[in-house]
Amino acid sequence: MWSQIQLFPDQASTMAPRVDGIYFALLAFSGFFIVLIAGLIIFFAIRYRRRSDEEVPPEVKESTMVELGWAIPPFLIVLVVYFWGAQVFFDAIQPPNNTHEVYVVAKQWMWHLQHPEGQREINELHVPLNKPVKLTLISQDVIHNFSIPDFRVKQDVIPGRYTTLWFTPTKKGRFRLFCAEYCGTNHSQMVGWIEVMEPSRFETWLTEDADSSPATQGRKLFLQQQCITCHNREGNAPLLEEIWHKKIPLRNGNTVYVDEAYLRESILNPDAKVVAGFDQEMPSYDGQLSETELMQLIIFIRSLGPGDTPQRVEQTEPPAVLPDENKKDASP
Ligand code: CUA
Repeated sequence: MWSQIQLFPDQASTMAPRVDGIYFALLAFSGFFIVLIAGLIIFFAIRYRRRSDEEVPPEVKESTMVELGWAIPPFLIVLVVYFWGAQVFFDAIQPPNNTHEVYVVAKQWMWHLQHPEGQREINELHVPLNKPVKLTLISQDVIHNFSIPDFRVKQDVIPGRYTTLWFTPTKKGRFRLFCAEYCGTNHSQMVGWIEVMEPSRFETWLTEDADSSPATQGRKLFLQQQCITCHNREGNAPLLEEIWHKKIPLRNGNTVYVDEAYLRESILNPDAKVVAGFDQEMPSYDGQLSETELMQLIIFIRSLGPGDTPQRVEQTEPPAVLPDENKKDASP
C-alpha cells in the first residue's frame, strides 16, 4: 500500500528542478536557523541561569559589531532568495518563442483543450517530449486552476481574461492534471492527464482525425455569424488576414498588438479599439458565443494568410440529385 503513496511529485519538466531548488534551499535555511536559535536558547538558559537569589547580572553594553552581525547576514540571505526566486518566476511566466500552442477552456467541471493544428481533447492533453508547450487559458464560468504537480506549474483560469502557462516536459509518460481552485460540487473530479509523447509520434497523432480542427470550426462560425458580410475584400471592415502578432494602427492614433486578448475584446466589445480608417458598425457578440467558440474564431483568424478569407458567397453544395424513377434511360 505504501508503495502507492508518493512523498514528492516526479520532476518531469525543465521547471521542476529549478522550483525544487528554491524549495529545498528555503527548507535548509529554515532548518539551519531553527536548530541554531533553539539550540542557543537552550544553551544560554543553562549557561547563564541564576545560581543564587543575590545574584545580579553584570551590565551589558551595546555592541555595534553584534548588532551589525545579526542585521547584515540575514539581509544578504533574503536578497539572495529574492533574486533567485525572481529569476525563476520571470522564466516561469515568459514562454519562449518556438512553442507548441494549446487553447484551454475550463468549465464546471471539465477541461476542453484544442490544438490549433487539429486535435481537440477533453481532460487529456498530449504534448511532445522536450518541446516547449504554451497554453492559453480561459474559464467559461468560475475561477479554476490548471495545475500539473509533476511539472511544478500552476495557473489560475479566469472568466473573461486569457492567461498563459508554459512548460517543457522532460519525461515520457502520463502525468496528473488537477483543478487546484475550489470551483463547486464536482471540483474534485475536475482532473485529467498530460500524456508526454515522442515528438515524431506526437506529430502523427496531431494530424490524425483533424477534420474537425478548431480552425475549421472557427471558419464555420465566421460564415454562420455573418462575420464575412463585412470582413471581406470589399472592405466595410478590416480584412483579418495576416494580422496575427502584428501591431495595427487604431482610429484614436494608438496602435494595438493583435493577440487573443485583443481579438476577444473586439468580438465582444467592438467599440473598444476601432481600427484606423474604418467606422465602427460591428454589433457586439457578447453572450452569443461560448468561450470555446470564441477561441475557435480566434484560432481561425490567426490562421488567415493572404487570400485565405472565405468567399463572401460560399459555393454551396448542389442539391443531391434524386433518382428519377420515370427516366429509365438515365441509368445504363
Ligand atoms: Cu475547476 Cu476546481
